[in-house]
Amino acid sequence: MQKKSLSDISTQGKRVLMRVDFNVPLDDNKKITDDKRIVESLPSIRKVLGDGGRLILMSHLGRPKGKANVEYSLAPVASRLSELIDCPVSMAKDCVGTEVMQQVLALQDGEVLLLENLRFHPEEEANDPDFSRELASLGEVYVNDAFGTAHRAHASTEGITHYMETAVAGFLIERELLYLGKALQEPERPFVAILGGSKISGKIDVLENLFKKVDTVLIGGAMIFTFFKAQGYEVGNSLVEESKIQLALHILEEAKNRGVKLLLPTDVILAAKISADAPSYAAKISAIPEEMIGVDIGPETAEIFRNEILSARTVLWNGPMGVFEIDNFAAGTMAVAQALADATAKRATTIIGGGDSAAAIAKAGLANQITHISTGGGASLEFLEGKDLPGISALND
Ligand code: 3PG
Repeated sequence: MQKKSLSDISTQGKRVLMRVDFNVPLDDNKKITDDKRIVESLPSIRKVLGDGGRLILMSHLGRPKGKANVEYSLAPVASRLSELIDCPVSMAKDCVGTEVMQQVLALQDGEVLLLENLRFHPEEEANDPDFSRELASLGEVYVNDAFGTAHRAHASTEGITHYMETAVAGFLIERELLYLGKALQEPERPFVAILGGSKISGKIDVLENLFKKVDTVLIGGAMIFTFFKAQGYEVGNSLVEESKIQLALHILEEAKNRGVKLLLPTDVILAAKISADAPSYAAKISAIPEEMIGVDIGPETAEIFRNEILSARTVLWNGPMGVFEIDNFAAGTMAVAQALADATAKRATTIIGGGDSAAAIAKAGLANQITHISTGGGASLEFLEGKDLPGISALND
């Protein structure tokens, strides 16, 4: 996607309306537990402020269902952002209205205002034209740097572009497109994709799209048990999508037809229940007892996957190998995380497609040893599925 970017426009003295994805996790005390999305927005923010722009930031946080709710206020984000850029960040009480407009017009060059949660208004998710126009009236130029929300056609991501002449991508979106886009369009080979997660149904479109691009697919996570059941194995009490058994067979067939090497685990970790105190052991996939549940890939599989990852020039990872939130069931996911870090050290391009795998790499303490970790959960999934992201398509070519 060839889109105009923040580096193509002048922002000096201009009111720059920037959509960011500050949808960050908060604990019960409203403390941000992971500020990656804020940190990743800093290059665009610093560029505008450094060039003397008047910055108006807007975002959603959580799903407040179209009603103002202090639980979902962006106020904690304003404080964190202020610390990170070492400059005051004013917080508006709303995202539209007379008072907000007054605050916007009072901004001086190099100052920043954060609007309150866009989703306090149902018109945001409804992509309402009047609401889009009202948001647009706040800025003279529009920058979208909210990659994590680019798959949503909402007023602040898509609708607004109909009312602004200048609508460009920020540096975070540029970076996401550079890595995810290059992997899909012109990957250095061998290209190995690792897919995990609990359900085939959540990953089928990604698999179908990746089959056209990759040399090898490694599959882990609970979705393996639907494949095993399709192949006639006993899977005990492991999670199986009964309605997707035919689909699993079709996927295996399609990989063969397309010449893609698809590897399923040869062994798994079993436990009687998914609980931190449950004893567990490794078993071959042909030896899963009726009453046991598969909770991770086994050590033999982890070694096979590691060798495949280390032989690749491009590695894409989406979805954990097991229930990695429980330490006893995390070894497979941690082994994949380590293999990615080691592949990066061998100069492979390693990319993590957001969501749970990003949390897993953070748990492994290896986040700074990966080429690119996407800030998108749903957005990176849809990108990998080959779908159009409306928040990006709508920007100036
Ligand atoms: C995300 O966290 O994936 C984005 O911020 C989008 O949030 P949503 O799924 O609530 O639209």
